[in-house]
Amino acid sequence: SNNTHSFKDRVVVITGAGGGLGKVYALEYAKRGAKVVVNDLGGSLKGAGHDARAADLVVQEIQKSNGIAVANYDSVTDNAGNIIKTAIDNFGRVDILINNAGILRDVSISKMSPQEFQSVIDVHLNGAFKITRAAWPYMRQQNFGRIINTCSPAGLFGNFGQANYSAAKLGLVGFAETLAKEGHRYNIFVNSIAPLARSRMTENVLPPHILKQLGPEKIVPLVLHLTHEQTKVTNSIFELAAGFYGQIRWERSSGQIFNPTNPASFTPEAILAKWKAITDYKDKDFNTTQHPVQLADYNDLTEKAKKLPVQNDQGNIKVTS
Ligand code: NAI
Repeated sequence: SNNTHSFKDRVVVITGAGGGLGKVYALEYAKRGAKVVVNDLGGSLKGAGHDARAADLVVQEIQKSNGIAVANYDSVTDNAGNIIKTAIDNFGRVDILINNAGILRDVSISKMSPQEFQSVIDVHLNGAFKITRAAWPYMRQQNFGRIINTCSPAGLFGNFGQANYSAAKLGLVGFAETLAKEGHRYNIFVNSIAPLARSRMTENVLPPHILKQLGPEKIVPLVLHLTHEQTKVTNSIFELAAGFYGQIRWERSSGQIFNPTNPASFTPEAILAKWKAITDYKDKDFNTTQHPVQLADYNDLTEKAKKLPVQNDQGNIKVTS
């Protein structure tokens, strides 16, 4: 076969790789020549307890097929630095980081305790921060890095009973978007995925006929592609499940500009009067529905204001209504 995606001698750290998605990533990276740090504290779905066997079994499976892997049992919440140290001590570098570890504490907001909120934020978001912070100097120094943050459709769109989880997951997208900017000049590329797959996380919430189609192996190809040295994609969000692979992006409506020189035009009544235009995604004047990818894209708005047909002598926009 035409195997363009070799990972020979790349060092890959995968958090939560003792089961589910992390495990299938680990197996495939190793098969393609990577040296893999299989991190997993081996706790329950809710994050209780720990068990070294989770990571050990994956490492054994890799080694049985002559792959290279080492186990690490630290929690991303308390000892993330040591996970990266495991990569450095054993393999001398860290090229690819898959932020994948996660837990669930599903409960509707009226019943959610601060602890239920905090623990989910701690593992997904704070954990990703801590381990990324530890890996970053190495990636910067070697002028190479690929990072995947694991978001979720629940983060992008919200999901009943998952206020903690969706907050953490969309937080990971924002985190990735800033890292993409900071990492670009160092050849560090950062993307987010929102997968849906069969695992202990979903096996009790989705019907069997859906679960059947959601093999976790279907998530692997995009993650490998995004983290390959030849892939220059960054700052992006991908949605994938059951063999579907697509991209998600921000979209700004065409909006409405109010007279910037007249404070009296910025009233709630004016907002109501222009509600249709404010929320209209079809820009009839400029035909430029926008998909901002950086903060500086607010320049589009000022450009747009300048191009408005009705202007006074100072170049300010006259509001006609
Ligand atoms: P999973 O429960 O099989 O895998 C998560 C792994 O993370 C477990 O092996 C667990 O022991 C480990 N882990 C938990 N806390 C940890 C910590 N503090 N330190 C180190 N490891 C820890 O579930 P799955 O489905 O494989 O989830 C993987 C990632 O994908 C998670 O971030 C999850 O939120 C995300 N995801 C999964 C979806 C799905 O449909 N399965 C949907 C959207 C996102």
